[in-house]
Amino acid sequence: MTSMPPFGRRFVLGSILAAGAAALLPRTGRAQPNRPMTRKVPVSGEDLPVVGLGSWITFNVGKDPRGRDACAEVMREFFAAGGRMIDSSPMYGSAQEVIGHGLKTVGGAPALFSATKVWTSSGAAGPGQIEESRRLWGVPKFDLLQVHNVLAWEKHLETLFRMKHEGCVRHVGITTSHGMRHADILRIMETQAIDFVQVTYNVVDREVERRILPLAAERRIAVIINRPFRQGELIDEVMRHKLPDWAAEIDCANWAQFLLKFIVAHPAVTCAIPATSRVDHVRENMGALHGRLPDAAMRARMVAYVEGL
Ligand SMILES: NC(=O)c1ccc[n+]([C@@H]2O[C@H](COP(=O)([O-])OP(=O)(O)OC[C@H]3O[C@@H](n4cnc5c(N)ncnc54)[C@H](OP(=O)(O)O)[C@@H]3O)[C@@H](O)[C@H]2O)c1
Repeated sequence: MTSMPPFGRRFVLGSILAAGAAALLPRTGRAQPNRPMTRKVPVSGEDLPVVGLGSWITFNVGKDPRGRDACAEVMREFFAAGGRMIDSSPMYGSAQEVIGHGLKTVGGAPALFSATKVWTSSGAAGPGQIEESRRLWGVPKFDLLQVHNVLAWEKHLETLFRMKHEGCVRHVGITTSHGMRHADILRIMETQAIDFVQVTYNVVDREVERRILPLAAERRIAVIINRPFRQGELIDEVMRHKLPDWAAEIDCANWAQFLLKFIVAHPAVTCAIPATSRVDHVRENMGALHGRLPDAAMRARMVAYVEGL
């Protein structure tokens, strides 16, 4: 795999199997037939399907009616497949307005777990931005509000904790991506009563296995995984190759399910949030909610296989 940064075999074994990490991993398991695989949010015990839906770029379609309706159809398919968490941000252009349009088009979504972010360097501007997001989605309140990219986190967490105390949001979290600001994320996880953390993790970007995922498990913080396909670059690359025959051993019919099952098999992960603009793709992605998950040995095999492409 030439376009990926180099990840040597030593790193593969070191990151996946060493330091007792193997003990954390589940044995190969199977979801109950026809019931989407879920994980509990530690703080509330609420069940969340292990695949959610992102909205960056894919849902930033502006006022184009065809684009908006296409996104609504993606949402319809997502809910029909048992999906719950949709993730967005005021940073994502028109995505929140498009989600609001989608929710109206599908006639409401009682299962929705609404997750958005606050993204402004001004603490004082946070509450107004959150209220505008709420209006765009058309929801009474958010299930999860996250500080986007650790921006002005002290001020925003103060606002979000107050809102949670007042019953105006159900969960509080913080996000980062691309492996950035992990030292800050670790410090916040250690010192703040956050319910969720959102980070990048996929078969080639595995830095979070070292400290963030173990700390999340220890502190009982739910984990959302962004960039499961490296914004499309990873899935486009692996799709140039044949899916290995042994992917059938973990009930993967396509590369999307291979990449997603690698992520959600980590016991500290609550859900991954692939973004898509296509109904056939959301259907493939939601297929990862069913069938067997890889155990530790299979996950190491998956890493080695992708890195060897
Ligand atoms: N700091 C942060 O808070 C942060 C940072 C990054 C991302 N996020 C969140 O995480 C979400 C996911 O990350 P991402 O959007 O960067 O990238 P991603 O989910 O890794 O990849 C999205 C890309 O994958 C393609 N794709 C999806 N399903 C596919 C399938 N079954 N087969 C082939 N291609 C498929 C999509 O194209 P098609 O439209 O053609 O399907 C899209 O271009 C974001 O949307 C956002 O909600 C948060």
